[in-house]
This record gives sequence, structure tokens and C-alpha cells, in this order.
Amino acid sequence: MKKTTIKKIGVLTAGGDCPGLNAVIRAIVKIATEKYNIKVIGFKDGYEGLIHNRFVSLGNREASGILTMGGTILGTSNTAAPYRYAVTKGKKFIYQDVSKKAIANYKKNKLDALITIGGDGTLSTALKLQRDGLNIVGVPKTIDNDLSGTDLTFGFDSAFTTATEAIDKLHTTAQSHHRVMIVEVMGRYAGWIALFSGMAGGGDVILIPEIPYGIENICAKIKERKIRGKRFSIIVVAEGAKPVGGELTVSQIVERSFDQIRLGGVASRLAEEIERRTLIECRATILGHVQRGGIPTPADRVLATRYGAEAVDMVLKGEFGRMAALQGNKIVNIPLQKAVGKLKLVPLDSGLIRSLKKMGVSFGD
Ligand code: F6P
Repeated sequence: MKKTTIKKIGVLTAGGDCPGLNAVIRAIVKIATEKYNIKVIGFKDGYEGLIHNRFVSLGNREASGILTMGGTILGTSNTAAPYRYAVTKGKKFIYQDVSKKAIANYKKNKLDALITIGGDGTLSTALKLQRDGLNIVGVPKTIDNDLSGTDLTFGFDSAFTTATEAIDKLHTTAQSHHRVMIVEVMGRYAGWIALFSGMAGGGDVILIPEIPYGIENICAKIKERKIRGKRFSIIVVAEGAKPVGGELTVSQIVERSFDQIRLGGVASRLAEEIERRTLIECRATILGHVQRGGIPTPADRVLATRYGAEAVDMVLKGEFGRMAALQGNKIVNIPLQKAVGKLKLVPLDSGLIRSLKKMGVSFGD
């Protein structure tokens, strides 16, 4: 056992789930408890557990056998937020600042630090808690890969693998029926999942939020392929893609959530327009939450484990108010404020876009 003054830490997973969360928890618990004799408790359902002091003790038994499990053994919530907590009043929600309750529970449990695993919303709240006196360590999670300050978030590799597998399957049926198959992937306002799965799955058209599309350019690409004897086309569209001068396709507003807008449905809109203009049969597939489920890929297990190990190191060194990050092939840590507030979008001068364009892939521009 190594000596440390740290006696007890808390951990929580908040925001949308993704494959790899359990791998982070496993690394944290194994290192903290077995190497340093630090007690670990896990708050249930993200900040909901911290607010209501609902937690479980985490030891070797809980951390065993979870490396390959999707989801999170702790549960999560993307609506429970200490600084804007929704309570029902009649048929409406009203919002209360319950951060004092969350802070009191941290103190009541005599925690030396709290490791928060999450994306933009979770880590923005974590930064506020740090400013209000808690010792916070952040771990970057999201399938969207849109967190600043880190080259990769875990969950992304698994999500784009799932999306690629779906594109592979759509390819064969597109070919048999000579159809245009449009597959909509997640990613919010960033096109990372569409770009990577589009590249890996050989999409003919890739539409990302960073490059507004012109419907006539997409149709021109499909017609050009037909002239060349390719009677089918695959379009990979990010849920946040929009036409030049047009709007996002919103599927739902979740008032209680940090980011209230839920995107979705752009693929159906495109299918209708393309079929009308080209007279080629189009079908839309919206992949949705399957991209967040299932077992983490080996690459995500590795990244998640590295993040978990770094998070414990940060606690031991007292590096609070910071987030573990991947820069190049190195795990480092950066101030939380560098990670939140500004999303990491696909740069327009990305080498990936350049290569794909050289190969004839259309981005609808
Ligand atoms: O941020 C992860 C993500 O899956 C996005 O890609 C998607 O837009 C959103 O969450 C969906 O959120 P919910 O689970 O609330 O429907």
C-alpha cells in the first residue's frame, strides 16, 4: 500500500451515457482502493445522487467484471443539475438552486475529492462546484467527441464503430435496390461521428454541421454516380447538419436539460427532397441511441482506463479544477475552464475532409 493523506473520494457519471464509463470507474476503484487504501463511493444517477446523498460503496467486488459492460453501473442523468434543479409544481417545472445540498453531502461524506465523468454540461457544473470549494477532477466523456482541450473523448470510438457497422449493412441493401440510403448519426453540433463513420463506411456524401449543404449539390453527386453506372448512393448525415441559410432539424425540447435542444430527423427531410428531385428511391435510417449502447471498443477501454488512472493521480497530486485529457498520444490534464463552454468542432481545414474531397466524396458544398 502506498501512503497518501487522501482518505475518501466520490465518483459520479452524469449526462448522456456512453460505452467506456464502467472502464473508467473500474480503473479509479482498483487503483484508489487497492494501491492507496482510499475509500471510494459512487453517487447514483449523476448529480441526482450527490444532491440527495444516494451512493454506493465501490470496492474490488463492484469494479470486477465491468470492463466490457456498456452503460454505467452508477446510473446517470442529463437533467439533474445542482444549480438548476427541476421540481414539479402542478403541471410545470420550476427551478431551484440546490447546490448547497450537494456541497453539504460532499462534506457530510468527508470526501477529499469528487471525480466527475461527463461531457460539456456535467463539467460546466463541476467547474461551478470547484469554484464553490469542492475538490473536483474531471474525466471527459461523450460519443460526440466535441469537448475542447482533449483530442479524444472515450465513447466516440465505440459510437463511430456502431455507425460504421450500420453503414456497411445499408450498403448491401442500397446496392440490391439501387436506392439512396441516408443514415443519420448523432453528434449534436459537431460532425465527428459523421466524418469518421462516413470515411470508414465509404459514404458518397457526408453532411456535417460545420459545412452547410446545398440540396442541388447532393443531387448532382447522386446523378453523376448514376451516369457512371453506380446506381446507389450512401449519404451519412450528422443530426446537426443544415442547409445553407437553413435551420437545424429539432426533434424535441427538453426544458430540464443543460442543452435543451434535441436534434433529429434531418435524414427524413433529405430523403423526401432528394427523391422528389432525382426520382431515385430514397430511404432514411436514424441510428439514434444504438450509438450510445453496447460494449466499448478495445480503443475506448484503453482510453477510459488511462483516464481513470490519470484521475486518481490528479487526486493524489492535488490537481483539482482540472480535467484529464489526451493530447497527441499523451494523457495530460488541463484546467476545466479550457474544456467547457466552447465546443470542439471539425476544423474546416481538416486533413480528413481534404482527403475525402480528393476521393470524390461530396460534403454538399
Ligand atoms: O451528447 C450525446 C448525445 O447522444 C448526442 O449525440 C445527442 O444529440 C444527445 O446526446 C441525445 O440526448 P438524449 O439522450 O437526451 O436523447
